[in-house]
Amino acid sequence: MTTDLHHAPSAQYDCSHDLSHTNTMALACVADTVVTLQDEAQLDSFMTSYVKNTGHNLPLFVLSGGSNVLLPTQLQAIVLRPQMHGITLTDQTQDYVDIEVMAGENWHDLVIHTVNQGWYGLENLALIPGLTGAAPVQNIGAYGVQLEDYLQYVRAYHLPTKTWHSLTATDCEFGYRDSIFKRTPNTWLISRVGFRLHTDETKVLASYGDVQTVAQRYAEQQGRMQPAPADVMHAIIDIRQQKLPDPKQLPNCGSFFQNPIISQNQFISLQSNYSDIVGYPMPDSMVKVAAGWLIEQAGLKGGGIEPIVTHKKQALVLTNHRPYQATQDDVAIAQNHIISCIYEKFAITLAREPVWVNTNGTVGYGEHGV
Ligand code: EPU
Repeated sequence: MTTDLHHAPSAQYDCSHDLSHTNTMALACVADTVVTLQDEAQLDSFMTSYVKNTGHNLPLFVLSGGSNVLLPTQLQAIVLRPQMHGITLTDQTQDYVDIEVMAGENWHDLVIHTVNQGWYGLENLALIPGLTGAAPVQNIGAYGVQLEDYLQYVRAYHLPTKTWHSLTATDCEFGYRDSIFKRTPNTWLISRVGFRLHTDETKVLASYGDVQTVAQRYAEQQGRMQPAPADVMHAIIDIRQQKLPDPKQLPNCGSFFQNPIISQNQFISLQSNYSDIVGYPMPDSMVKVAAGWLIEQAGLKGGGIEPIVTHKKQALVLTNHRPYQATQDDVAIAQNHIISCIYEKFAITLAREPVWVNTNGTVGYGEHGV
């Protein structure tokens, strides 16, 4: 049962709660307790009185949109679900707008809203599932844009010290699919995210893959010579819909593996055997290799170990063929199979991207659970 702090007495605290429908991978999961937070004050009162008065010392685990987590069958933790809503315009000039977005706002709806308002920058991040509060955790990125490019600050609650903090983009220590929130799990609950967006309709980033061609088509349909941000957004929605499965129809948690970063020397030696290997140059003589390409070349596109199978249009996405019944163990079996096949063929160890949640609410990253 979900505990709504506005109405629920503490007697509802010890109820079990089914989270199978609250993670986009649709893994079977029952949590000890779930607390839905409608505003920041509820978190304060929960932390200062609720836990203390009930004497519970279960670990705390923050669950946002559930689109980047692999949940255990039993989650022996207090699950905090930030559901605060609101988008506030905090400053505006001719060139930019500052907005503050509450953690519970759906990310894709926010992207559409900003573009409709004439506030630009987030359009390349359209159709990424999840809620705004989780976006800084893995510094969501797509089609040449990362969240950090437009984020100004994060307001977050530091769970160990029960204190509120405002973190600048620098404080967040963003990297590729990485941030301080990811590196110090079970520590922060993000409640608001501040963005500075621009208002220049001619400034778009459409150079990635097919985006330019599809965006140009949208522009011409609108009688425009050049793609505007709305055209780029529609192009990206089209492209994502074509190759990424909709979690509502085929459960998944997006890219399952990170694109591995290897040395230029290793890349050159792989290129001598695989001339069409896909890699992007990175600083310090490193190369980011497309994990989807590696998986496809290993003959695993559409493969895996049932019920966890790679998507037939995008090998980087693992899908669940047995929704609400498949478990984290099923994921581990398929994941480890893929990791060892790739290692055998290319001597590259793939690292998992979604968060692996252990039974006690602690989390792990990398190729295996903690
Ligand atoms: N590729 C294959 N076979 C595949 C999949 C990809 O050969 O099955 C090749 C593609 O042809 C392309 C290259 O790999 O040459 C890269 O593929 P793509 O452009 O689809 O992007 P990606 O590197 O696989 C990353 C993000 C995605 C994001 C896209 C677009 C990571 C781990 N993933 O995927 O993010 O949408 O770029 O920017 O960085 C997500 O996080 O859930 C996600 C979908």
